[in-house]
Amino acid sequence: MKTYILNAAGGSEELKMVQVAIPTPMAQELLISIKALSINPVDIKTRTGKGIYGRLKDFSPLVLGWDISGVVEAVGEGVTDFTVGDEVFGMVNFPAHGQAYAEYVVAPAAHLAKKPSNISHQEAAAACLAALTAYQILQRHVKHGDKLLVHAAAGGVGHFVVQIAKILGAYVIGTASAKNIDFVKSLGADEVIDYTQTDFTNAVQNLDFVFDTMAGETLEKSIQVVKKGGKIISIPSGIPQNIVDLGKATEVSIAFELVQSNGVNMQQIADWLATGQLKAVVSHNFAFGEMIQAHQQMETGRTKGKIVVSI
Ligand SMILES: NC(=O)c1ccc[n+]([C@@H]2O[C@H](COP(=O)([O-])OP(=O)(O)OC[C@H]3O[C@@H](n4cnc5c(N)ncnc54)[C@H](OP(=O)(O)O)[C@@H]3O)[C@@H](O)[C@H]2O)c1
Repeated sequence: MKTYILNAAGGSEELKMVQVAIPTPMAQELLISIKALSINPVDIKTRTGKGIYGRLKDFSPLVLGWDISGVVEAVGEGVTDFTVGDEVFGMVNFPAHGQAYAEYVVAPAAHLAKKPSNISHQEAAAACLAALTAYQILQRHVKHGDKLLVHAAAGGVGHFVVQIAKILGAYVIGTASAKNIDFVKSLGADEVIDYTQTDFTNAVQNLDFVFDTMAGETLEKSIQVVKKGGKIISIPSGIPQNIVDLGKATEVSIAFELVQSNGVNMQQIADWLATGQLKAVVSHNFAFGEMIQAHQQMETGRTKGKIVVSI
């Protein structure tokens, strides 16, 4: 089968397509022929030696990629929930060696759910890491009636945060640039702030929760708009100590959380996709041979919704 190995940490030219043997599923695993996979910023970070590269650097060959949708080709011993021919999707083996930049992948059955029949493999692959991140954090920290702000509401994670937070009954405010205001409103946001024109600290206050996808100055300024006892979860990287201290001084809890593979959570996402309550927006669909172009698009930092690669 064809797969992209990461030759060395570095630029997108370090992604090399090679031929390797199709893997064999062990107990509790599935062999899946991948029809579509999605790209996330962690792919870029890890490719360049950041992200979760430290956890993976000793794998040889190192193969990036975690978000897949495809068809079950073989099942390992003890698998009861899936059979050959099932269409499945999920975020496999994160934060570990996903190996999804390939025609086939082996993954724990416990990381997957059946793909709803009303959506394409491309939409399903798009609704994995980003959707799981949104769901896992919102279900832990947000309750019905809470007022929340999500930064980068038009992005991969943000466009799922808006929709899932509305499903959970929150009042949702998002930030986006002018070209994406109508898009974020169409996802159900109650208010959208054009961050290129308006400083969000002048537009909102007294919030229960901020879903921070930006870190840096945006995270620091977010402390000003959360009420005492409120929370900020920031997902790009660990929280600098000065920001933790600032939060303590103002009685705002601030933490970093990392998404984890979870088939039960994938099933909830599948249920919402099946009813149409949740939609994955795919703005770019590359061919498998265009992995470098897919990485270059991700690196713009301005992608609306998700980038997928079809096989
Ligand atoms: N901890 C975890 O488990 C976890 C999981 C998923 C992602 N992450 C991290 O979360 C971050 C976001 O991921 P993502 O997939 O959502 O990224 P993404 O899809 O690349 O986000 C792109 C979006 O960001 C918006 N944007 C850019 N600058 C902005 C600003 N200053 N204010 C508001 N919006 C801005 C752009 O909208 P405009 O064009 O309208 O500006 C674009 O739509 C990354 O650092 C990623 O690694 C962490």
